[in-house]
Amino acid sequence: MPLPHDSDYKRLFDNNGRWVSRVGETRPGFFKELARQQAPKYFWIGCADSRVPANEVIDLAPGEVFVHRNVANVVPHSDLNALSTLQYAVDVLHVEHILVVGHYGCGGIKAVLGGARVGLVENWLGHVGDVMDRHAAELDALPDAEARHDRLCELNALEQANNVCRTTVLQDAWRRRQPVTVHACVYGLKDGLLRDLGFNVAASGSVPGDFASALAGLQSP
Ligand code: CO
Repeated sequence: MPLPHDSDYKRLFDNNGRWVSRVGETRPGFFKELARQQAPKYFWIGCADSRVPANEVIDLAPGEVFVHRNVANVVPHSDLNALSTLQYAVDVLHVEHILVVGHYGCGGIKAVLGGARVGLVENWLGHVGDVMDRHAAELDALPDAEARHDRLCELNALEQANNVCRTTVLQDAWRRRQPVTVHACVYGLKDGLLRDLGFNVAASGSVPGDFASALAGLQSP
């Protein structure tokens, strides 16, 4: 079937063709093998921001990380999309690690802090506004806007990871002793580095204590 003559669009198919040849040279049989099944160890919940591509940042090939992304990496208690993806990751794929990844320089976080009018997405970002309000005392005590932004990126990743722990999906998995750990991380656009935020939870009973320690900047055990 002929492609439309838009070069920006056509370029993607040229790229794809080159990528398939490259992968075929370095890993013969890769696509056939992958088509049979996926068995990723990791589930990445991150921001939709184009500068934070999950596979690339953690240098993993197709098949190695299951991914859910939305604006400002939010996991609301009643979001059927996030919950369904989480349930599939845990119950069907049996991922061992769930990473909730915020990132510095997040437009969603900036909009919330700046009180900007950004349309419909403001309603979604209300969840981040809740996080900001819950930690207003800590944020207000910081010296400048940049420090407040960076900290809210961290706090939001921690709060959303805490939300993941409180879902029926994780509670049930831990009850049946399934090995799965929830982590909170933050990614730096300026240096490309992923940072652990000290919230690494593998059991239901430790969630409140580990969350409090991570908020206080202490490493969870
Ligand atoms: Co973002």
